[in-house]
Amino acid sequence: MFFTATLSTLFLLGVLPSTAREHRGHISVVLLGATGDLAKKYLWEGLFQLYLDEVSSGHTFTFYGGAQAELEPGQKLMFERLKRLTCPSDVVPDRCAILKDQFLRLTQYHQLKTAEGYAALSEEISTMLSQEGLAEAGRLFYFSVPPFAYAEIARHINGSCRPPPGAWLRVVLEKPFGRDLKSAQQLAEELRTFFREEEMYRVDHYLGKQAVAHILPFRDQNRHHLDPIWNRHHVERVEIVLKETVDVKNRTSFYEEYGVIRDVHQNHLTEALMFLTMELPANVSSSEDVLHSKLRTFQSLRGLDKRSAVIGQYETYGSHVREELQKGPNYFSRTPTFAGVLIHLESLRWDGVPFLLTSGKVLDERIGYVRVLFRKRAFCTQNETARGSASSPCRRKQIVFYIGHGELNSPAVLVSRNLFKPVMPEGSWKAVSDRPRLRLFGQPLSDYYTYLPVKERDPYAVLISRIFHGKKESFITTENLLASWEFWSPLLDSLAGELPRPYPGGPQNQHLLDFEMVGGEVSFVVKEALKMMGASDEQMPDQYKTLHSRFRQNQLVTAWPEELIDRLASDMEAAATSAVERAGQFHLALSGGSSPLALFKRLAAHHYGFPWKHTHLWLVDERCVPLTDPESNFRNLHDHLLQHVRVPYFNIHPMPVHLNRRLCVEGDKGPELYAGEIAALVTNSSFDLVLLGVGIDGHTASLFPQSLVGLEGSPGVVLTESPAKPHQRMTLSLPLINRAKRVSVLVMGKSKHDIVTLVSRVGQEPKKWPISGVNPSSGHIAWYVDYEALFG
Ligand SMILES: *[C@@H]1O[C@H](CO)[C@@H](O)[C@H](O)[C@H]1NC(C)=O
Ligand SMILES: *[C@@H]1O[C@H](CO)[C@@H](O)[C@H](O)[C@H]1NC(C)=O
Ligand SMILES: *[C@@H]1O[C@H](CO)[C@@H](O)[C@H](O)[C@H]1NC(C)=O
Ligand SMILES: *[C@@H]1O[C@H](CO)[C@@H](O)[C@H](O)[C@H]1NC(C)=O
Ligand SMILES: *[C@@H]1O[C@H](CO)[C@@H](O)[C@H](O)[C@H]1NC(C)=O
Repeated sequence: MFFTATLSTLFLLGVLPSTAREHRGHISVVLLGATGDLAKKYLWEGLFQLYLDEVSSGHTFTFYGGAQAELEPGQKLMFERLKRLTCPSDVVPDRCAILKDQFLRLTQYHQLKTAEGYAALSEEISTMLSQEGLAEAGRLFYFSVPPFAYAEIARHINGSCRPPPGAWLRVVLEKPFGRDLKSAQQLAEELRTFFREEEMYRVDHYLGKQAVAHILPFRDQNRHHLDPIWNRHHVERVEIVLKETVDVKNRTSFYEEYGVIRDVHQNHLTEALMFLTMELPANVSSSEDVLHSKLRTFQSLRGLDKRSAVIGQYETYGSHVREELQKGPNYFSRTPTFAGVLIHLESLRWDGVPFLLTSGKVLDERIGYVRVLFRKRAFCTQNETARGSASSPCRRKQIVFYIGHGELNSPAVLVSRNLFKPVMPEGSWKAVSDRPRLRLFGQPLSDYYTYLPVKERDPYAVLISRIFHGKKESFITTENLLASWEFWSPLLDSLAGELPRPYPGGPQNQHLLDFEMVGGEVSFVVKEALKMMGASDEQMPDQYKTLHSRFRQNQLVTAWPEELIDRLASDMEAAATSAVERAGQFHLALSGGSSPLALFKRLAAHHYGFPWKHTHLWLVDERCVPLTDPESNFRNLHDHLLQHVRVPYFNIHPMPVHLNRRLCVEGDKGPELYAGEIAALVTNSSFDLVLLGVGIDGHTASLFPQSLVGLEGSPGVVLTESPAKPHQRMTLSLPLINRAKRVSVLVMGKSKHDIVTLVSRVGQEPKKWPISGVNPSSGHIAWYVDYEALFG
């Protein structure tokens, strides 16, 4: 069996170097989660590769696979996998067979579940070393286990598995490293109590991808060419892209919690961005210098908000989640499966250069790349045919680190021939000649100097080798990790309530997910997702499922809050667009209160097509407080909408509650002033749209029950008394509201259920329930009531 060969036998066989002369120390490698998926797919292969690479280095090795399973079944599972280890093509088959046999002999299974299990493992290592008379160089523990198990394993390792002084300890951790700044900090704190920073290697397997791993060496070896052009004067933009065709079926329990930004942007894409943008240290072989420079680059990232990103979700995602997580039919997920994010750096080198980080599932192709596009500075006077040659300044200039898949289906480095001929390390990268008909990024392959790796290496094999050699720059330090979460967390928070755009998947996405940069923000190029998809009511994606019915003989729209707000915002945009087309202007009167805040936010963030420039904003009612007071309706409108959209200053009409340094004094004639302003600007004092809410007592605007003020008479503006503080209010009167071309009433929340039920039955009794008096002469009134308010 596998365990009978001792190290001594291997010495006798001449496989291992003799201790006396050249032995450089023994290394024990422990793979935790030895029978798991990652181990099966990559890690054992990577460890075997390490053995192949280092067998002649003077070190000796033993490998331990650990898992929860008992000895016999665990051992069986593990060796089933080990027997299938493959020999790399660059190792002679006979030699490889011998080395594989040795590797298997040097490998053991251990049940590692309790403190005793770890203590026994450590004991075994020490005994073996003393029996063989070997010095210990180090111990490497690879955590291929879920993060919730980290702390316990860390405790056991620190408690009983540390090597004696003089030998190193390295622990290797796999993501996720938290799901936001706070959880990442907690996990980091916890680990810090057991391990020193230099002992921890956090893996981002992207840093082991050959094209990504070559970014820094490339920049270093081509300084001479890059120094003058690696900056904002020459770089037009940078695209960092990971597109996938797979969905997340069977992985939703993880994915629903994380989503694409946490899964891909926060780590893989950000790391690539850092390698590309950091100031190059004089000595790129110095881990310390590289890590330091990288950390400084994080400090220069400009903060993100939700206008920095567009998000999408493939249409069947919701049903995958409901099925796998056993959610009810009303469960709607907002987890994005696609995101495009625009990033800027505030540094002299990169100021103003857009970096677009994009990733998604169920897209049209599988591909990953980092693409640097240079500005085209030449004006070409020759005709198209005469521009011919690849070195012509009229061709696009770009440098691409091609991570994999796509048409090329291999890692590669591409440099436009009209830029420069790059220096590439011989032996590891080889130039390829043209592959006719292959076009990449809009140009024939012959336009580029193209290099492929001499030998394709799996990222895990690359990283395991770097761990062994202590090259920390290929890993994520605690500071680096926290800096990244600090950068991404605000965006994640601000996107939490946003609805991702649904997309059908694959080639059918057409232009649905294309996005563009305008004024430092991004938005989808195609503004109306549903039209684009040609969806009829029946086929609408879940998010847009709203119930249409009648309420008080008028149109009723009902849905979960987010969908409801979304629908109302869209309807408002449509009304605005048609009013502007018809009359060149849109007069919108908005109410205060809490329900509209969600609407304001939605409008600010998502309705870039809204004709704000031609919109006049009026207030339906106002509290008699200064406009800067947090209680002021205008202040809320300002904070949540006006400061995010571009409404011309002269089109904003706050109510004059504060005149002559007094609040709502009759003698100051505030209501008359406002009515006059309306009469002067709004044709026939007829607003295009008035947005109202309903109080639990049936009040609407600031028209309260049991008071006649503002319910009848001429259409004007009045002062009223509210039962709630601040008591004094200014409000449009009911007759003025009823002149509107369209009225929308927004009602949300369980607390409104009773009044909604009541109002659904009563006739027109404005004195008891002012809302029942809303009855625009145009006849257009629509009720937007969420499920809780409607059904309780
Ligand atoms: C780690 O191990 C050391 C030495 O055994 C011990 O003093 C220390 O308390 C341990 N740390 C934790 C957090 O348990
Ligand atoms: C998902 O899991 C089921 C049952 O375990 C399996 O049959 C199916 O192939 C898996 N699908 C994917 C995409 O992995
Ligand atoms: C660069 O850094 C490496 C690693 O620290 C070191 O071995 C090497 O001597 C340094 N080279 C120079 C020129 O300083
Ligand atoms: C373009 O330029 C080439 C070379 O100068 C010339 O031979 C050709 O006739 C030109 N084509 C046209 C359409 O003028
Ligand atoms: C102005 O409003 C009144 C009352 O709603 C209506 O009868 C009249 O037709 C309107 N006039 C115009 C020009 O719209």
